[in-house]
Amino acid sequence: MTLPSAQTLWSSLSVPAILLDEEDRAIGINPAAEGFLNISSRALMGREIFDRLAIDAPLEEIFARVRADQATLSINDVDVGTGDRAPVVCNIQAAPLADRPEAILLLILPREFAERFGRDQGMKSAARSAIGMAEMLAHEIKNPLAGITGAAQLLSMSISAEDIELTDLIVAESRRIVKLLEQVEQFGNLRPPELRRVNVHDLLDRARRSAQLGFAGHMTILEDYDPSLPPTRCDADQLLQVLSNLLRNAAEAAGAKGGTVRLKTYYDRGLRLRRSDGGGTVLPLQVEITDDGPGIPPDIVGDIFAPFVSGRENGTGLGLALVSKIVAAHGGWISVDSHPGRTTFRLSLPLATDEEETA
Ligand SMILES: Nc1ncnc2c1ncn2[C@@H]1O[C@H](COP(=O)(O)OP(=O)(O)OP(=O)(O)O)[C@@H](O)[C@H]1O
Ligand SMILES: [Mg+2]
Repeated sequence: MTLPSAQTLWSSLSVPAILLDEEDRAIGINPAAEGFLNISSRALMGREIFDRLAIDAPLEEIFARVRADQATLSINDVDVGTGDRAPVVCNIQAAPLADRPEAILLLILPREFAERFGRDQGMKSAARSAIGMAEMLAHEIKNPLAGITGAAQLLSMSISAEDIELTDLIVAESRRIVKLLEQVEQFGNLRPPELRRVNVHDLLDRARRSAQLGFAGHMTILEDYDPSLPPTRCDADQLLQVLSNLLRNAAEAAGAKGGTVRLKTYYDRGLRLRRSDGGGTVLPLQVEITDDGPGIPPDIVGDIFAPFVSGRENGTGLGLALVSKIVAAHGGWISVDSHPGRTTFRLSLPLATDEEETA
């Protein structure tokens, strides 16, 4: 069988797709995109797409990444709207083209569509109700568990040395369950951030020091800071938790042999979160945490910010879900770029304003 022409494929593709040139101008819009965006191909052709679409994600930044790395980036849960049409939650994907590396193929997958494909949304709502259930159970399980631990400790005083191994196991495993339950509770009960004026480098130092005393003792942590970085607006405890979760993941991915984590900060005024109402927030403070570990397993890379998605044997899958929840509550942005040997999580944070007190 001979393959149909590229034009035929393009027209019959049911996913809305837009082809962009080097300058982010539309050079192709398939019929699915015309229908979905309620915009004619003629109205969009040759225009910068930022002028016509309201996409609640830092597209310039995303495209720059795709061009630099020549790798596909996927972003979930993005509001996509046009001037006269209410925004719809979509997953978007930006891919480089093999024979024209500066051009970009932008696929817009409305969430209902993703759902029909049986992915993502289904899993996420299942995860959501699992969280509710787990929270309820967490509360109920902690008390009897404390009883079990106490009983095992009492028992250990009157048994033979070889059986102590067993009571130790009971105690250790019970502690593990308590920790898990606390994580679930913490995820469900995240309080609204108390926003203060905070120096990001102070937080990075605290996160680095406590990581190196504990879970990241086997890691080398390098700093590459822009000392002139102005303060951000955040809840210091919550942001510390974010940094610590990211460092912990890097340390866990590296395994026992260790590895190197690079903490980098810099100012990039170009990063702006476009809101579907047309407004925007500037997120100029960038914090990158890069490790040289094996990279995120490809089968979960699109879902790592959802609860209970884990690629590790004993992982709960709540670390990054909490990270993403906290960053969202701060009006910030987190993105990830992962290949074997190089995984970067990048936090983009707002500037402090005159309103916040210094923490
Ligand atoms: N720096 C990294 N390098 C490689 N894989 C990573 C990295 N960060 C996250 N991952 C992958 O993403 C998964 C999800 O991470 P997340 O922190 O949400 O959960 P977890 O670490 O498995 O469990 P928890 O954090 O709740 O203990 C991890 O299990 C791991 O497979
Ligand atoms: Mg984790």
